[in-house]
Amino acid sequence: MKKEIKIKPFWYSDIWLWPKLITIITTLDKEGTVNAGPYSHIMQYDVMTKNPRMIVGFRQDSHTFVNICETGEFVVNCPSASHLDDMMETAKFYPEGVNELEFTSFTSIPSKKVKPPSLKECPQIAECTVDEIIKLEKSTGIVIGTIEAIVVDEKLVDMGREDRIRAMDLPIGMGDEARQVYYHGTVGENLTQHTLGQPKNAMQGADAVTAMDWDKEAMKMLMNVPPPLRKMVIENTEEFTQEKKAEVVTAELFTELAKSVGMDPEVMERFRSGG
Ligand SMILES: Cc1cc2nc3c(=O)[nH]c(=O)nc-3n(C[C@H](O)[C@H](O)[C@H](O)COP(=O)(O)O)c2cc1C
Repeated sequence: MKKEIKIKPFWYSDIWLWPKLITIITTLDKEGTVNAGPYSHIMQYDVMTKNPRMIVGFRQDSHTFVNICETGEFVVNCPSASHLDDMMETAKFYPEGVNELEFTSFTSIPSKKVKPPSLKECPQIAECTVDEIIKLEKSTGIVIGTIEAIVVDEKLVDMGREDRIRAMDLPIGMGDEARQVYYHGTVGENLTQHTLGQPKNAMQGADAVTAMDWDKEAMKMLMNVPPPLRKMVIENTEEFTQEKKAEVVTAELFTELAKSVGMDPEVMERFRSGG
């Protein structure tokens, strides 16, 4: 049996469970005093373009939101689970003009591209400037931030995802009971892995059949194109190859076509390398 639940303010942290990223956002107020507070209403936004952004939701009278509106800059610091007590300290309602970090073991370090400091103990950090601010009436203030720099602990850079997940040990926010008791989990020992694979009954992209010869490198690039796009990519590339009076689709022709239709070279590079 299922039961419909009344939708109330704070519904997202009421009965509904919504695992979240835990971040500590650092900002500066107009006088240049540092402010820090935990924020979890945060999502990646505009992921395919060269202008990667994050979208964050705030109580409009929070010091963080006010500072962002006034200065246009903020830093998203992701702490490890070992710093949850410090993170909770920054959640307390300290008065305006107080730097919450002074009551924690976090160390402020200069950021690379923006004025608010970063937190040394956080393994992954995004420095942002404001792209757009939306103030919903009597509700959330939404900030869309352009990511100016992504900064991580050096040892993480060449690690595979599994090792990186374990090394960073990011907590997962599991919401609160009446905005007083906050629950967190970690993945650690319970990490599972699932491979995407092909659909069971129909090969995804099975209608994506080449009519011409493709050289090895061009074929490799095609296989790195997401399956739902392959048919369209094959048709366009073969038409372009014929226009160029070539008989074989090569990686060069593939790249030339992509460039001519305004495809981002960095997206192309991901298709080429498969990374
Ligand atoms: C784990 C956690 C996540 C939170 N996420 C948010 C959030 O996304 N948006 C928000 O407005 N408040 C959030 N809060 C509450 C603010 O952190 C809290 O109101 C804090 O005092 C604000 O600090 P500030 O006024 O210095 O910005 C969160 C609190 C915790 C403990």
